[in-house]
Amino acid sequence: MQIETTPGGRKIAVQLEAREFDWEFTPGRSIRGFGFAGQVPGPLLEAEVGDTLVVELTNRLDQPTTIHWHGLRLPAPMDGTEAVQRAVAPGESFEYRFVLPDAATLWYHSHVNETEQVERGLYGALVVRGSDEPAVDGEQVLIFDDLKLRADGDVALFGDEHEHHAGREGDVRLVNGRQEPELEISAGQIERWRIVNAANSRYVRLSLGGRPFSVIGTDGGLIGEPRELTEVLVTPGERVDLAVGPFEEGELLDVTALPYDRGKGESEPERFATLRVGPAAPSQADVPRALREIEPLVDSSASPTRTIDMKALMHGGHHQRGEPVRVGDLQVWDLINETGQDHPFHLHGFFFQVVTEDGKPRSFSSWEDTVNVPSNGQVRIAWLPDDRPGEWMYHCHILEHHAMGMMAHFAVVS
Ligand code: C2O
Ligand code: CU
Repeated sequence: MQIETTPGGRKIAVQLEAREFDWEFTPGRSIRGFGFAGQVPGPLLEAEVGDTLVVELTNRLDQPTTIHWHGLRLPAPMDGTEAVQRAVAPGESFEYRFVLPDAATLWYHSHVNETEQVERGLYGALVVRGSDEPAVDGEQVLIFDDLKLRADGDVALFGDEHEHHAGREGDVRLVNGRQEPELEISAGQIERWRIVNAANSRYVRLSLGGRPFSVIGTDGGLIGEPRELTEVLVTPGERVDLAVGPFEEGELLDVTALPYDRGKGESEPERFATLRVGPAAPSQADVPRALREIEPLVDSSASPTRTIDMKALMHGGHHQRGEPVRVGDLQVWDLINETGQDHPFHLHGFFFQVVTEDGKPRSFSSWEDTVNVPSNGQVRIAWLPDDRPGEWMYHCHILEHHAMGMMAHFAVVS
């Protein structure tokens, strides 16, 4: 990462080579991974609001690829989908260049043959900081994922019938590309954990040994006020920022996914990592009671401007198109899920607010780009198309569902 200060602001230049490498996900065991810069996760990109990010992607794989900047409000041609660019062929390069408008935990991942490319490791985190972040004693970026291996230890083949329907889940649970690692925190300190769920389809109902933590951010950055919880659901594609601690020296906590039924039976509790609490260190942390002012776009009685039937979307195939959206026209979308599974709905390029879930107003204010629509449930979202016309899309972030065609393109027109 190269930082250059120009009269127009800071420019952050990064070279990202997508290539195969031996991914040692646990000592002594490796698979053939695909990594940006030959690592999983790809390099952590860090920037400040207003910086320009310039990424040169070079494709050293033997198949085409692109980078989608998940959660970024960037110009349409930089979105990394095949609707806005020709996929980068083996041996070719492509330059992504855009300004970073929002402070948030974001991520980047391949958007071509995603079920395989993301499973093999083509993803990384992008952290953009604002001028007024809560004071914490430390920060960790933790990307959750899983890997499905065959009995002989190699990556299981892609795309069997069951995967198409239910999504791909594996038994190897990873944080930052390593199997069930040990994390550390100093006793007495409060850290900000920026969590990304990069799994193809695994839901993570996150628990830190049952201890309370505060959710301070979601997809689109800080939320209105901290929410003190003992668990939080993070679906594929989503992020949460937590204020974690303080704990006491010597404690050892399990970082687990609690049982959850997303429509294929209840999962077992599954450990992703352990947290060891080390010797005490002084704390300067100060997480305010009010984090950010978020004006509601609409109230819960607003009528929808559009209804998206997730069942029809699931069976509609790759060439579905939504009606165009005009810049400045407030969008209120009802997402209706009459299928037997939950689906994480992801909108490219714009943040939305969740207005109601099953008719009930949401109890906290936030900006999101991905929201879980539970089986037989209904979620109303609102968003405002700002002046970035072009081709955009929405899809289910269970990557096998997306690959099957649970997606639609639409145009934002001025
Ligand atoms: Cu992270 Cu099209 O998605
Ligand atoms: Cu889905």
